[in-house]
Amino acid sequence: MKRACLAVFASGSGSNYQAIVEACKDGRIDADVVLLVCDKPGAKVLERAKIFGTESFAFNPKDYASREEFETVIADMLDERGVDYVCLAGYMRIVGKVLLERYAQRIVNIHPSLLPSFKGAHAIQDAVDYGVKIFGVTTHFVDETLDGGRIIDQGAVVYEGSDIEELTNLIHNIEHKLYVKTINKLINNKY
Ligand code: GRF
Repeated sequence: MKRACLAVFASGSGSNYQAIVEACKDGRIDADVVLLVCDKPGAKVLERAKIFGTESFAFNPKDYASREEFETVIADMLDERGVDYVCLAGYMRIVGKVLLERYAQRIVNIHPSLLPSFKGAHAIQDAVDYGVKIFGVTTHFVDETLDGGRIIDQGAVVYEGSDIEELTNLIHNIEHKLYVKTINKLINNKY
């Protein structure tokens, strides 16, 4: 049977991209990352993709007339490479209808909060500001809303300290394991 093909979309550092690729390479995920899509041409994730030998497509959304236009280019690339699932990993952009229609129920995201609490780009800081003690991570199917869509997995950690960097590291460690679990569910149709 053909190994599942994954694409990862990221805009920043790419620690989740790396966690997914490492799990594919060492057999914890029975799939290959065949494409990295990045909307920030200088992002660190592109360096990681070079190191791990993943083909990357870096683009500047401003070079396209509309989201539909760049999503059509991306969707064609995904089709050409036989991508089964798209994993958003710090992709700081709402996914539009072109990708959602072509990859319906096959696009997932990871978010650093226990959704539906604390959607948006500053989830960890927002949770700290709110006085939260149980922090967490959520993987979910992607729809047209910000951090919406049905939840697949969640992981949690109790943290009562005040060091945001320490907390962020704890959350990232959960993310890296949780995404592996979620991708395995997807490729084995057990979600
Ligand atoms: C992660 O916290 C992820 O949950 C969020 O963006 C961050 C990306 O981190 N969506 P990295 O680029 O994978 O290190």
